[in-house]
Amino acid sequence: MIIDNFPHLKNRKPAGMLVIPFCAEHKKAKLLVESATLKELSPSLEGLLEAPLASGDFSGKEGEVVVHYISADKESRLALLGLGKLEEITVETVRKAFAQLTRTCHKKKIKEINLLLPEITEIKREELVHAVFEGLLLPNYVFKGYKEREEAQDTTPENDIISRIAILGGTKGDLEIALKSLTISESINMARDLINGNADDITPQHLAAVARGVEKTCKGVTATVFDKKRIQKEGLGLLLAVNQGSHIDPAFIILQYKGNPRLSDHTVIVGKGITFDTGGLNLKPTGGMEEMKRDMAGAAVAMAVVHAAASLNLKFNVTAILPTTENSISSSSYKPGDVYKGFSGKSVEIGNTDAEGRLVLSDALSYAVANLKPTRMIDIATLTGSVRMALGTEICGLYSNNDVLADQLMGSSIETGEWLCRLPLHESYRELLKSDIADIKSTGGSYGGSILAALFLKEFVKDVPWAHLDIAGTAYAHDAKRYFPKYSTGFGVRLLLNFLEKLSHTKK
Ligand code: BES
Ligand code: ZN
Ligand code: ZN
Repeated sequence: MIIDNFPHLKNRKPAGMLVIPFCAEHKKAKLLVESATLKELSPSLEGLLEAPLASGDFSGKEGEVVVHYISADKESRLALLGLGKLEEITVETVRKAFAQLTRTCHKKKIKEINLLLPEITEIKREELVHAVFEGLLLPNYVFKGYKEREEAQDTTPENDIISRIAILGGTKGDLEIALKSLTISESINMARDLINGNADDITPQHLAAVARGVEKTCKGVTATVFDKKRIQKEGLGLLLAVNQGSHIDPAFIILQYKGNPRLSDHTVIVGKGITFDTGGLNLKPTGGMEEMKRDMAGAAVAMAVVHAAASLNLKFNVTAILPTTENSISSSSYKPGDVYKGFSGKSVEIGNTDAEGRLVLSDALSYAVANLKPTRMIDIATLTGSVRMALGTEICGLYSNNDVLADQLMGSSIETGEWLCRLPLHESYRELLKSDIADIKSTGGSYGGSILAALFLKEFVKDVPWAHLDIAGTAYAHDAKRYFPKYSTGFGVRLLLNFLEKLSHTKK
């Protein structure tokens, strides 16, 4: 993807489409750029707009796109894009509207666009440009898939995604923001490729290799990978228990970015990295297993956060810890009813082998508490089917033992459109996790599953400020929605980056 800026409109390069933003006023479309700008672009442009506007076909509603064919000198199509009523325009509606434009380009196989930025004084310029480019770039992704045949590849839609966006008459600052959005979207796409990829390809060792790649390409990043032997030596016994049924070794990946080495402030992000979740001996039924290659979404997102932070040279310290393994079924699988001990020394009775995520996360959280002096920890995991039942596929469950941290995350949720809903760590449910034979049981009955999983994790964080994001509903979508593409959404990367960046402004 190339993004460029043409301060002198006349010097712009040719493109498949010229995009002009409008708002809606009394059910009529109203230009959101100066008419002098249009004149500068092409003297005939205003005249060209008359017919589509007079027809009433286009009223400037949010996300409305009308394409008009023109014979201007540099573009063959004119897109009128509606952003909705001026007083109702927000960064979220801007993102959604521009996402519609990207989808129109995909349908029409338009790869290069020339863009006039909307002029909206109600929204800070920086935020506006950021929202425009998030809207354009976030849905501009198609999983390449595994099509081998040449003719199939020709029709693979990823060949048709937008590859160049030119801002017309933008400032240096506009271009900088656009390029930052691009870097973030590229990190998100890295995570999406990992999540969408075959489980047989995206193994713990593959994730470790990707982490080492991030270390190589990004300044300030170090990758440490514990192999099975080292995992045994460190006593990460719950990760080992989950791994028992798999012929593929586990990997415990630590990816550290020091963007502000002077500061001790340091956030640890733990990402669930189950590369395939069969459920283990409590085998998942048909219909419940087909998407379980995505059960490492938390790990992929955590890695993408470090990748983006380092690529942008952001001034904070963050470490991603990725406990990765398959949860397989075989004669050597770990067993329901048996008791295993992890890094913390607490013994855990296994209630159900399909509740494997909390086990690997608890080892990672207790490892971080003991070894990394985290200022705060956030884990992100496709942890429970019940959070998807409760909140659906657009809202992620948030749990926290710290109100300040929870509020900061809620603030980032509102700014990024990656919606969170805080759910309670309801203490009286804790007794459901009592075990007669161990310190704690991994599951506790059939109600409140997402809360119980969070209560289990809480036992391993001591007094470190901690938040848990259950992305089981939001990590993956069957249909494209808002500015998220089909399949892996990459949910969480923008939320966490926004959170870390805002925090870094308060801790210089
Ligand atoms: N990976 C699943 C959770 C999941 C379900 C993610 C659906 C995405 C979509 C997790 O390991 C799991 O199976 N959890 C069980 C826990 C239960 C056995 C206590 C669940 O939620 O059903
Ligand atoms: Zn499971
Ligand atoms: Zn799982």
